[in-house]
Amino acid sequence: MTAKTMEELVSLCKRRGFLFQSNDIYGGIKGLYDYGPMGVEFKNNLKQAWWKSMVYERDDTEGLDASILSSPVVLKHSGHEDTFTDPLVDCRACKSRWRADQLLENNKCPNCNSEDLTEPRPFNLMFKTAIGPVDDGSSFAYLRPETCQQIFTNFKNILDSTSRTVPFGIAQMGKAFRNEITPRNFIFRVREFEQMELEFFVKPGTDDEWHEYWINKRIEWWVNQGIKKENLKKIEVEKNELAHYSKRTVDINYVFPHGEEELEGVANRTDFDLGSHTKNQNDFKITSEVMKNSSSTTKLAVQDLEENKWYIPYVIEPSAGVDRGVLALLNEAYREENVDKDNKRILLSLKPHLSPIKAAVIPLKKNNEELVNLSKEIKSNLQKLGLGRVVLENSGNIGKNYRRHDEIGTPICLTVDFETLEAKSVTVRDRDTMKQERVSIENLSEYYKKYFN
Ligand code: GAP
Repeated sequence: MTAKTMEELVSLCKRRGFLFQSNDIYGGIKGLYDYGPMGVEFKNNLKQAWWKSMVYERDDTEGLDASILSSPVVLKHSGHEDTFTDPLVDCRACKSRWRADQLLENNKCPNCNSEDLTEPRPFNLMFKTAIGPVDDGSSFAYLRPETCQQIFTNFKNILDSTSRTVPFGIAQMGKAFRNEITPRNFIFRVREFEQMELEFFVKPGTDDEWHEYWINKRIEWWVNQGIKKENLKKIEVEKNELAHYSKRTVDINYVFPHGEEELEGVANRTDFDLGSHTKNQNDFKITSEVMKNSSSTTKLAVQDLEENKWYIPYVIEPSAGVDRGVLALLNEAYREENVDKDNKRILLSLKPHLSPIKAAVIPLKKNNEELVNLSKEIKSNLQKLGLGRVVLENSGNIGKNYRRHDEIGTPICLTVDFETLEAKSVTVRDRDTMKQERVSIENLSEYYKKYFN
């Protein structure tokens, strides 16, 4: 059974060090969360899995890690300065502020029921910060609202420094910021989050086929991370709801504990962005208003050698939220089970490659020098295999350690007992089945590598 409520997930996350409210000791800030010791490992493992599938396992992509602070000129040409807004309504009675689509029926304030509301007005979701020592508004930058714009502005740098030809992609993961009016549902809608975005550049005319390819590829990837296929839905975004850059977008929705919502979007961004950041767009018959008067000095186009002409590639963009991925996977992995008629356990049945801790090495008796030293040696040898974090648990309480590691999703626990000293073997306990087997220390590295590969 998956998690019944968001509260159960939130409670597990706090109890076991996955996620904390940010600035907690000063009352917190809405829409900001900090990843604790388990959360940071889990999130890094998820990002690593994405990077592996998008960059290492393909022959047609490159990676990028660009700056977060973005020039307003970039975000003018991308369309964000003019269009990245939510309609906002103020309640004159209680002074609360709402997105227009969140008002109750009959246009009432959800906080105090008053009907004394302002007309909706656009509210730009981008955060601004001053650049340089004088904060007089003359020089500022935006915190990027999506990671992909720096992929577009680096398009020529990457073409010039690699031998890529279309079709090819550029992948980037990292922070994005949006001043959401009403952040909500734990880490589902927050003001500071991470995205994993691939911009895949294709020849116009081949874009529809590549779009289908990426929609299916991304669903397959989420299933490989442990999400049941029936919990993922392909949703065609209505024409009148498409972002300003999109010809067609398909959302990959997931059934979160609070309801079904977007986990990832796969958009056909056409030549909007590269065209918009290109000098002399007229050469390419680009007509959009926002693209006029570009001050770019670069031509973000490629040559079609067969037809001997330049063209601006189309872009297919699978864009996933890391934090929404974390929430979805925690929800999928959460189980409550009866161990026997009196005892229950909670476990996170995560895929081993995502588990924050890969193995816990537990000496049976706390501070017993022989057992602890051997445990340390085993831990250090497993750690050196480089498959993720291995921990030593020197508390002496095996039952408590098993419970804790079930809850954080550790696939195996290795107990070092007195028999270990004699027979040179350890007890390996499997998280999901709770079955135990003895494995000789000599074969432990091989056993471990096999388990995780
Ligand atoms: N570059 C395209 C883009 O940014 P988007 O649909 O606005 O498209 C992509 O965002 C993904 O980023 C979403 O599917 C979601 O997973 C994540 N995301 C967007 N806003 C978010 C927020 N406020 N909090 C957490 N994740 C968010």
